[in-house]
Amino acid sequence: MVDRYRYWTREAIVADLDLIRHPFHVAIENWQHDFNIGTVVRNANAFLASAVHIVGKRRWNRRGAMVTDRYQHVMHHPDVVSFAAYGEQMDLDIIGIDLLPGSVPLETARLPSNAMLVFGQEGPGLSDAMQSICSDVYSIAQYGSTRSINAGVASGIAMHTWIRQHKFDS
Ligand SMILES: C[S@@+](CC[C@H](N)C(=O)[O-])C[C@H]1O[C@@H](n2cnc3c(N)ncnc32)[C@H](O)[C@@H]1O
Repeated sequence: MVDRYRYWTREAIVADLDLIRHPFHVAIENWQHDFNIGTVVRNANAFLASAVHIVGKRRWNRRGAMVTDRYQHVMHHPDVVSFAAYGEQMDLDIIGIDLLPGSVPLETARLPSNAMLVFGQEGPGLSDAMQSICSDVYSIAQYGSTRSINAGVASGIAMHTWIRQHKFDS
């Protein structure tokens, strides 16, 4: 907890954060209880996303969130269709983050202010249904012998890219 919020109630902290949240959202697919979700939620709190969306199974392992889920809006969507409808209703630009054939390097991309950054799960990555509703898919450059990084780490890089572009670049 940062010093500023020491002794505040949870409700007061959430209300205060709601005044300054960034317009981007993040989402992760959860068809097999992905263990990265806690880290995604923790990163979403650090970079102050508007909300975190879990698409698929409702239950997720909260340990990695380190209680940051208490200060974030975490929404559940049972399937990609209902998630897409939410994105349309909220006028969000659904952006996939994955290394698929045809992915564009994130390092060269300009993320929209109203981005919904979507991460796939360990193993399969973004589902075909999710890929079909993404306006763009961006990949993070890697140089070692592993094919991918985990979704929690990828979420931190992507969220910080949004922060760098919208809070620091002119
Ligand atoms: C372990 S990866 C899934 C496997 C991946 N689709 C593959 O082809 O090997 C889990 C998720 O982490 C994110 N991810 C991992 N490495 C990435 C990279 N280099 N660029 C973009 N996203 C990445 C994506 O959201 C991905 O769906």
